[in-house]
Amino acid sequence: MQVLHTYQELQVFRKSLDSVGFVPTMGALHPGHASLITRSKQENPQTIVSIFVNPTQFGPNEDLSRYPRDLEADLKLCQSLGVDGVFVPTVAELYPFEHAITLNPASDLLGHEAEHRPTHFNGVLQVVLKLFNLVCPQKAYFGKKDAQQLLHVQRLVADFFLEIEIVPCEIVRDHDGLALSSRNVYLSASQRQEALKIPQALERMQIAYQQGMRDTASLIRIGLDTLQGLEVHYLSICNHNLEPLAQVKSNQTLILCAVQVGQVRLLDNLWV
Ligand code: PAJ
Repeated sequence: MQVLHTYQELQVFRKSLDSVGFVPTMGALHPGHASLITRSKQENPQTIVSIFVNPTQFGPNEDLSRYPRDLEADLKLCQSLGVDGVFVPTVAELYPFEHAITLNPASDLLGHEAEHRPTHFNGVLQVVLKLFNLVCPQKAYFGKKDAQQLLHVQRLVADFFLEIEIVPCEIVRDHDGLALSSRNVYLSASQRQEALKIPQALERMQIAYQQGMRDTASLIRIGLDTLQGLEVHYLSICNHNLEPLAQVKSNQTLILCAVQVGQVRLLDNLWV
């Protein structure tokens, strides 16, 4: 496995490869990331992973400086999964200009996360486009866990005519149901117990849906009842263009939620 720090190193390495599957990450890798890597390994002759805590997607009061970092463990995991190359650039390497070109996300895909993190998706799109241009992958793997991010990246590819297939990957959960996230390490034992209300709320909504409930207001009431005591930033039921729905329609519905537990904002969602 090659560990590449600079654009030039990556370029030389990339020229030696044929078809590449790419998994962009911010490190502190867990089995959610590993599932994306494994899928890429299955579907591509070569796999490149990037590990880069991207400053432009963090707001001024967010956790950029204390975002969990463990490069040694990450590289071990990548090695054990058979990754071919890991790109670990510095901020200066990825942002060579003081006055960088920025991207505005499609306005129809805003709301939800963007209401709480107004510049987040600008930063995500900026770094993802840079990484796509550097790695030149045929396929790129993104988790459904970050549903809105996935929609923005799919739009980026469609709108800028990038020849990259975006592969959405299922959410990986811990044994207790909590969606895996690098930020879960911030939760105390009691906060983690509280956080379990999130997957429970989604599960109860899913059961009610399976029993025939289609009315979104009633489903949201069930979810909010379960989340009582937590600071819910949003719990919404929309279509895949993030338009609110009055009735759930199968194969077209996304239930999105963000909940604050202590210092941590947790995202979870369900694709119906
Ligand atoms: P990061 O949070 O490290 O996540 C990297 C990828 O792993 C994303 O596609 C995310 O959706 C996926 N992922 C995280 N937790 C998951 C889980 N429990 N199950 C399945 N997939 C999961 O998302 C980012 O980094 C950044 O915004 C990035 C795209 C790298 C741009 O900086």
